[in-house]
Amino acid sequence: KEIFLKDYKLPDYYFDTVDLSFLLGEEKTVVSAKISVVPRVDGGGFPLVLDGVDLKLISVKINGNDLKKGDFHLDTRHLILTSPPSGNFILETVTEILPQMNTSLEGLYKSSGNFCTQCEAEGFRKITFYQDRPDIMAKYTCRIEADKLLYPVLLSNGNLIEQGDLEGGRHFALWEDPFKKPCYLFALVAGQLESRDDTFTTCSGRKVSLRIWTPPEDLPKTEHAMYSLKAAMKWDEDVFGREYDLDIFNVVSVPDFNMGAMENKSLNIFNSKLVLASPETATDGDYAAILGVIGHEYFHNWTGNRVTCRDWFQLSLKEGLTVFRDQEFSSDLGSRTVKRIGDVSKLRSYQFPQDSGPMAHPVRPHSYIKMDNFYTVTVYEKGAEVVRMYKTLLGSQGFRKGTDLYFQRHDGQAVTCEDFFAAMRDANDADFANFLLWYSQAGTPVVKVTSSYNAEAHTFTLKFSQTVPPTPGQPVKEPMFIPVATGLLDSNGKDMPLSSIFSDGKLESVTCDGRPVFTTVLRVTKGEEEFVFTDVPEKPIPSLLRGYSAPIRLHSDLTDNDLFFLLAHDSDEFNRWEAGQILARKLMLSQVVNFQNDNALVLDPQFVHGIKCILLDSNLDKEFIAKAITLPGEGEIMDMMEVADPDAVHAVRKYIRKQLASELKPELLNLVKQNRSAEKYVFDHANMARRALKNTALGYLASLEDEEITELVLHEYKTATNMTDQFSALAAIAQKPGKARDDALVDFYNKWQHDYLVVNKWFALQSSSDIPGNVENVYKLLSHQAFDFKNPNKVYSLIGGFCASPVNFHAKDGSGYKFLGEIVVQLDKLNPQVASRMVSAFSRWKRYDETRQNLAKAQLEMIVSANGLSENVYEIASKSLAV
Ligand code: ARG
Ligand code: ZN
Repeated sequence: KEIFLKDYKLPDYYFDTVDLSFLLGEEKTVVSAKISVVPRVDGGGFPLVLDGVDLKLISVKINGNDLKKGDFHLDTRHLILTSPPSGNFILETVTEILPQMNTSLEGLYKSSGNFCTQCEAEGFRKITFYQDRPDIMAKYTCRIEADKLLYPVLLSNGNLIEQGDLEGGRHFALWEDPFKKPCYLFALVAGQLESRDDTFTTCSGRKVSLRIWTPPEDLPKTEHAMYSLKAAMKWDEDVFGREYDLDIFNVVSVPDFNMGAMENKSLNIFNSKLVLASPETATDGDYAAILGVIGHEYFHNWTGNRVTCRDWFQLSLKEGLTVFRDQEFSSDLGSRTVKRIGDVSKLRSYQFPQDSGPMAHPVRPHSYIKMDNFYTVTVYEKGAEVVRMYKTLLGSQGFRKGTDLYFQRHDGQAVTCEDFFAAMRDANDADFANFLLWYSQAGTPVVKVTSSYNAEAHTFTLKFSQTVPPTPGQPVKEPMFIPVATGLLDSNGKDMPLSSIFSDGKLESVTCDGRPVFTTVLRVTKGEEEFVFTDVPEKPIPSLLRGYSAPIRLHSDLTDNDLFFLLAHDSDEFNRWEAGQILARKLMLSQVVNFQNDNALVLDPQFVHGIKCILLDSNLDKEFIAKAITLPGEGEIMDMMEVADPDAVHAVRKYIRKQLASELKPELLNLVKQNRSAEKYVFDHANMARRALKNTALGYLASLEDEEITELVLHEYKTATNMTDQFSALAAIAQKPGKARDDALVDFYNKWQHDYLVVNKWFALQSSSDIPGNVENVYKLLSHQAFDFKNPNKVYSLIGGFCASPVNFHAKDGSGYKFLGEIVVQLDKLNPQVASRMVSAFSRWKRYDETRQNLAKAQLEMIVSANGLSENVYEIASKSLAV
């Protein structure tokens, strides 16, 4: 059933307090709920519809009296009280559930022997009958009773107000959360866990006890998560003025989890891959992800929990904003440019394809069948870009005024994206024109810009035109409000001071308190628009969309020479990287044409020279260099083609990498030698940057057929003292089939078989390999003793990994599609959310040639006709077929 934003209605009843009691057991778990119900309007008498899925109703009472048969109605998804009393009343239900059988990992379930919950978006209805919607905010208590030996630790939201022993080896704990919350923030954890304890004293002097819970053997691996948590708490005070509001903050790590992590009030639950790290077992990428996600979930305490969403269509209100906050946090703790490059790459490689495919939806979707399918890169990543645009338009101080007003107005409320917009606007008296279209129009705007210099008038003109491509359900679009941060470079590569700009019949000075400005934000709001810079003494080279100031595709008339100039000189480091990427994209696309016409591939010497200059520039940040010498991904290039050709794109990228490696071999070898890691692993930007540069260089070198290099790579593998170096070296060895590869993979597995997170890396490395015919190997790995369909991380590593190799997933014989089709049907029976994420790999099938289209379509048709298909998979598969 499809749900529409336009159908939103206020609830007929609110819930004021909710007292839950859990009797946790091995055979069954009994959940009792006592809810005080308040009709929204007096006189009431409306039916009260409670959601409930997979629940066994034992009893239902109103004001202490059992309901008679005719007073309620039960179906597979609801409990409907047909004629509740008018006025306030107390509703009591008792239900039974089977967490030990719950493989969907939503609601209450078991993960390696421990009980835990995941309620967002609509999992609470699998725990008890409830109005499972975020605008129902109530105060909760939660009593948990369980066997003391099996479940020594009992956790829920808020403060622990009572605990004690009971007969029969059982014990209990009573938790009380003083803050009103929607049910999706409810959490319960029970099991054999130990904690790393620390404290954080907030700016107003509140001493908060911090605990990170894991199985005992994993405790040593929580040091980095604790560091990250304390850093996040401090940062949110400093940058957003947000202080923590309870005396306790718990984080629990569980190995079986559908997503990354969950911001349950004061009891965050994390996928263990985003908590556990040690230098020996986690890479720099893992460390950075943990920092970001620990921050993200903590930041939700204000953006999501204290101020929450009115309905699930508003998801980006909390997710876009919180992703923006975690991006800024990571930027401030590391390198801003490098972080920005990573975030923009992610947007381009994942969100752009979504925005131009069958699942394209606005940042605030108009409808959904299954909400879980809308925890997307569009809602999260594009949503974060929308928040970033407010900051770009208002400046740091104006943006902070906006968030202050947002919290002041809406603390304790469930609100909408317009409320956030209004706070930004009102706090700054700002004119945001048609900015709200960013929430309602799907599709990536395409902006074309041409430039001209008038040597007599000393004016420089930028002419913009924009279009937003049609997306499902939105054939015609309006022009958007696009902030284009712009600077002008003189012939020495220095930024020119900007004085005034003429546009829309008005001349406006862009100086700031009389001081010159070097970057200005042009407000492009129409289909076509012109900006004339005055007092420009020489023909400049424009640096456009600095810092990637809007999530658009920009096509400019910059020549290759202009781009090489920007690559070498732009003061905006992001745009230096971007210039290199544009050049690389052009180069790759031109070689794809060569490949398709059976012409020899060639590498432009000017490109090699540009890369070489970057490699040798000792003033540049090493991680920036690593990013700048990395070619755009295959997906990004295919995304720009009329008909995506995975074989051609793969061959071209491989060719260019190898050619660069061969022409820059001495330089790359030097980089490897000069940037070897120090004995002791340190997680800081300087050390990460060294490792990134060394390992990027190593990856290039490994593409060469060369004895000396083979030995070097093996040497790096053997002498590595941390996982970052060890795994990079393994990946380098694994690029080419052969005995060295086979031996190294066996060696690595033997070393790490006891650590399932490392074994997952080993799965992913093999499954995502571009080695021809790799699907056979992946079939074999499905029956490897370490693989398990019930664990999402393992599925993401092995199945998700396979789909990340375009040449193998899109193999022309259809073997990749057949593989995924079978898996999806099988997986859907266990875990619809995970199956639905996997089936998404098919969604771009129309982008390929006819042979591939037919093969992929056949699998999608097979999937939608499968018996007992989940709504999750049905939504993605049927929408994919509908285009
Ligand atoms: N709110 C969580 C986060 O982004 C994500 C939870 C998503 N859960 C789901 N079943 N879709 O931090
Ligand atoms: Zn989130």
